[in-house]
Amino acid sequence: MKKSILITGGTSGIGEGIARYFYAEGWQVLITGRNKEKLAALSNAMPGLHALEYDTLIEGDELKILQFIRSTWDGKLDVLVNNAGHVELTPLKQIKSKSMVDMYRTHVIAPSLLSSGCIDFLAATKGHIINISSSHGIKVYPELSAYAAAKAGINMLTKVWSLELAPHGIRVNAIAPGPTNTPVLDNAGLPVEIIQAIHESERTSIPLQRRGSVSDIVAHVAMLVTADSTWVTGTILPVDGGLSIT
Ligand SMILES: NC(=O)c1ccc[n+]([C@@H]2O[C@H](COP(=O)([O-])OP(=O)(O)OC[C@H]3O[C@@H](n4cnc5c(N)ncnc54)[C@H](OP(=O)(O)O)[C@@H]3O)[C@@H](O)[C@H]2O)c1
Repeated sequence: MKKSILITGGTSGIGEGIARYFYAEGWQVLITGRNKEKLAALSNAMPGLHALEYDTLIEGDELKILQFIRSTWDGKLDVLVNNAGHVELTPLKQIKSKSMVDMYRTHVIAPSLLSSGCIDFLAATKGHIINISSSHGIKVYPELSAYAAAKAGINMLTKVWSLELAPHGIRVNAIAPGPTNTPVLDNAGLPVEIIQAIHESERTSIPLQRRGSVSDIVAHVAMLVTADSTWVTGTILPVDGGLSIT
């Protein structure tokens, strides 16, 4: 029987890279996202790949994902990757309730509800939850308070869930990527010149002197879900060229 993986935010960047990797490895893959055109384009490019519309900001939207797994995958799931996310750069003085709420909804509440709903599916396979966190959940920068607090939140959820789900044979780990080449800053609506300045300052502050690629992150998701890695749970793994220790 083919193994199965669910990736939230599989329409772009890191999530799309994870989906493409596991599809090529012969897994059953379900991606979610809001962008209908991208969901359709990826389904066409990878016949047999499943794609569902899902918005973390809509209450109860995870229920259709859970229903899909019950009806199409017979209630079995090997890996859940909580990846959907967005970044926002806002000084504390300008912080708004909506941006804090949306940040928590996407990075803390929605992954909690989806993971909760997937416990029985993952218990059936002795499966694995991987949370895509960020170096911003570990290392401190100004003007990123909402994002950093949300990513620190998912780091702590990773540890708590790993203890709680260990008796079910479910492992829970997080990857904390450093600055990685994806459309995330464009999607945050930042002007091109600001994005270029951020990229340059990030590159020079990374000990290995380069920003990450999607394949840098995918390689570590793949490593964590292989049979050789079955004794690892509750970790927050920085994949960041050494950034988090500076
Ligand atoms: N790139 C980096 O430098 C970096 C570094 C550290 C951590 N990360 C984390 O890595 C994850 C992926 O980021 P990325 O860089 O790959 O960004 P990206 O290319 O912008 O992709 C973000 C994905 O999340 C989905 N998404 C965003 N908001 C959503 C919502 N409200 N509901 C449902 N889906 C939503 C998007 O889907 P639609 O567009 O279809 O809605 C898209 O598939 C995020 O959690 C991010 O915080 C990224």
